[in-house]
Amino acid sequence: MKILVAYYSRTGVTKKLAEYLAKKINAETEEIKDTVNRAGVVGYMLAGRDGMKRRLTKLETPKLNPADFELVIIGGPIWSWNMSAPIRTYLENYKNQFKKAAFFCTMGGSGDDIAFKEMEEIIGKKPVAALAIKTKEVAAGDLNKAEKFCSEVTGTAA
Ligand SMILES: Cc1cc2nc3c(=O)[nH]c(=O)nc-3n(C[C@H](O)[C@H](O)[C@H](O)COP(=O)(O)O)c2cc1C
Repeated sequence: MKILVAYYSRTGVTKKLAEYLAKKINAETEEIKDTVNRAGVVGYMLAGRDGMKRRLTKLETPKLNPADFELVIIGGPIWSWNMSAPIRTYLENYKNQFKKAAFFCTMGGSGDDIAFKEMEEIIGKKPVAALAIKTKEVAAGDLNKAEKFCSEVTGTAA
């Protein structure tokens, strides 16, 4: 079973979770890279605006083709109660190439419900599993929910 974890991370929280998931389920990883500089206060404000307005961005070309994987696990941070612009763009760009998908996000506190609903709408497929984890849980290594997600994902994959 070939699995890809494709993630965007502005400050490293989602990256930490993505790497944990990939190791647990023996998946390859693709870090989705934005061409927009989102560092610092200005970058933060642009991110907030783009999340809120559901804007797309321009991504660097990914290394891997999601169509080569039986399952793609897609995750990023929540921005202004929405999925982040790089995740919206990745999904729009490759929406016809996901055989099966699972979703995850990291967030301060809320926004996962809207984000997951819209992610599903974009690709036109229900995720086999979904995982929302708070930033502070990732930082503390409090990843029980992630364990459950991994077994759901590998269970449906089998
Ligand atoms: C512009 C911006 C807007 C955010 N809006 C939300 C939000 O609406 N709800 C929330 O729970 N967290 C929000 N956050 C917090 C991030 O989702 C959270 O810190 C996340 O773990 C960051 O992941 P990263 O380090 O992978 O980028 C926001 C962060 C940024 C930068």
